[in-house]
Amino acid sequence: MRQHMVTHVLLTSFVVAFGAAAAADHAREASGRADDAIQDAAAAQQRKGDSNRLARGEYLVKTMGCHDCHTPHKLGPKGPERDMLRALTGHPEDLEMPPPPKLGEGPWVWIGSGTMTAFAGPWGVSFTANLTPDPETGLGKWTEEMFMSAMRTGRHEGKGRPILPPMPYFVVAELSDDDMRSLFAYLHSLKPVKNRVPQPIDPPEAAR
Ligand code: HEC
Repeated sequence: MRQHMVTHVLLTSFVVAFGAAAAADHAREASGRADDAIQDAAAAQQRKGDSNRLARGEYLVKTMGCHDCHTPHKLGPKGPERDMLRALTGHPEDLEMPPPPKLGEGPWVWIGSGTMTAFAGPWGVSFTANLTPDPETGLGKWTEEMFMSAMRTGRHEGKGRPILPPMPYFVVAELSDDDMRSLFAYLHSLKPVKNRVPQPIDPPEAAR
């Protein structure tokens, strides 16, 4: 009888211990699944956040007129039309511009190319930048900080020479940090296109 009791107690504690271990395993498994679910949800949220950011950036680029100067235009019957095959690639590297015609005194003080990517005025000659993320000729190596600082300070790459007209950096500067990040994220999401834009040219007075 006593023998039987001992066996029974032993057995019972074995079952209890085994049961507890199994329950712990089960709980671990369940919490692992819960962790996975949380991670999945976070990843989905992140993807949604990213796509919202890109959509916002695209909206800003389209409504703030970046295409007006950074997408080369071709001359249609009614005037310059955007060439969206070269969207946001800046002044075409194969389009060499002759020296600008001399403008006399008077209200015509600056002049632009038919592509709407080269401009001559009192500041010299400026060419619009390649805004696609090509690392050598576009914004590929730019960081978000460089972009924000360029737009906020009006300095080339955020620290160099002054950014020339007619780039309306001061308009972009009015965006909230969040919108500016979205704009930059969208530009960085474009297909990189290699197009080396010429350096700006100083006005003749400065060159003398
Ligand atoms: C009216 C024409 C015009 C419009 C509109 C315009 N840009 Fe520009 N942008 C220029 C020109 C010209 C340059 C070259 C300026 C220079 O070489 O200093 C330039 C240069 C830039 C640069 C390079 C700045 C640097 O540090 O050298 C960035 C980035 C840029 N533009 C972004 C934008 C974005 C984003 C938009 C739309 C919100 C936009 N631009 C709209 C004319 C324009």
